[in-house]
Amino acid sequence: MKLRPRRLRLSPGIRIMVCETSLESSDFIYPLFVTHGRGIKQEISSMPGVFQWSPDLLADEAKNIAELGIPAVILFGIPESKDPIGLENFSENGIVQQSIRAIKQSEPEMIVITDVCLCEYTDHGHCGILNLGENKNPALPEGYVLNDETLDVLAKVAISHVQAGADIVAPSGMMDGMVAAIRKGLDALHFEHIPILSYSVKYASSFYGPFREAAQGTPKFGDRQSHQMDPANSREALREAALDLEEGADMLMVKPALAYLDVIHLLKQNHQETPLAAYNVSGEYAMIKAAAANGWLDERRTVLEVLLSIKRSGADLIITYHAKDAARWLKENQ
Ligand code: PBG
Repeated sequence: MKLRPRRLRLSPGIRIMVCETSLESSDFIYPLFVTHGRGIKQEISSMPGVFQWSPDLLADEAKNIAELGIPAVILFGIPESKDPIGLENFSENGIVQQSIRAIKQSEPEMIVITDVCLCEYTDHGHCGILNLGENKNPALPEGYVLNDETLDVLAKVAISHVQAGADIVAPSGMMDGMVAAIRKGLDALHFEHIPILSYSVKYASSFYGPFREAAQGTPKFGDRQSHQMDPANSREALREAALDLEEGADMLMVKPALAYLDVIHLLKQNHQETPLAAYNVSGEYAMIKAAAANGWLDERRTVLEVLLSIKRSGADLIITYHAKDAARWLKENQ
């Protein structure tokens, strides 16, 4: 035998020398669910180890995250009340706005990313203004998520987050033209320096189940298939990414991650110059937690393997609920 690949696997030292992909805590973005009140740290039943936080507890939590070497968080807000448009979403004292200020006060260096969408704030749970009532467009189905009407609200939300101190805005609603609308809104107020991380390729996925409990954003009727992507499609992902870049997106995202590693790979191959994030979503987290709780999987090894696979497929950044555990484990492995 001339070639024996096992020669390069003989010892830990050799294995480390030929290791192609590495995982670091600086690759991670940690999601935080924020809710009104004081002293609240409420565990989400389908996501053990993940909590809804009230703003007063965020100072300490931000410190913990920073100490683990995780550079960024992404915020999801649970509003006090909901209405057809989601007014709290762009209110100066909205839950996300309060939380940004609390984190920035405690950890000014922490990069605060905000999810820009309507679904957690609307009483119907949809990602935009609906085709209902007096001004209904008869050419579109009743209850359809209206695209251009929603863009104005998304721009308002992004501006409000940035005014409260957000460093990056991340539109997740899959509305056509959302990046351009937000860019225009931000630039008009001299926020040209604020990057947009676009959820460019977001699939209509069953893996969001636990998140919808965590963020209370389940649609009251119907689903999100008229705007989120069909899991059958990957060529369409290239088109979404190209459009977002044209509209001014600074970074792209694929979501979920695990069932879409091919899409992550495809996007990276086609847009090597653009930082690419992957969202390791709530259902992916819940699967590992459930199996580990049953003793069916070794949580630590499984999580690190999964995160490595997301990185290997082409993601530069990973939004993951495992971030704190993984950062701790990576430190211990050193
Ligand atoms: C929409 C949004 C969702 C997630 C992130 N942003 C839910 C959805 O599209 O239904 C899901 C993330 C996860 O499952 O972890 N604001």
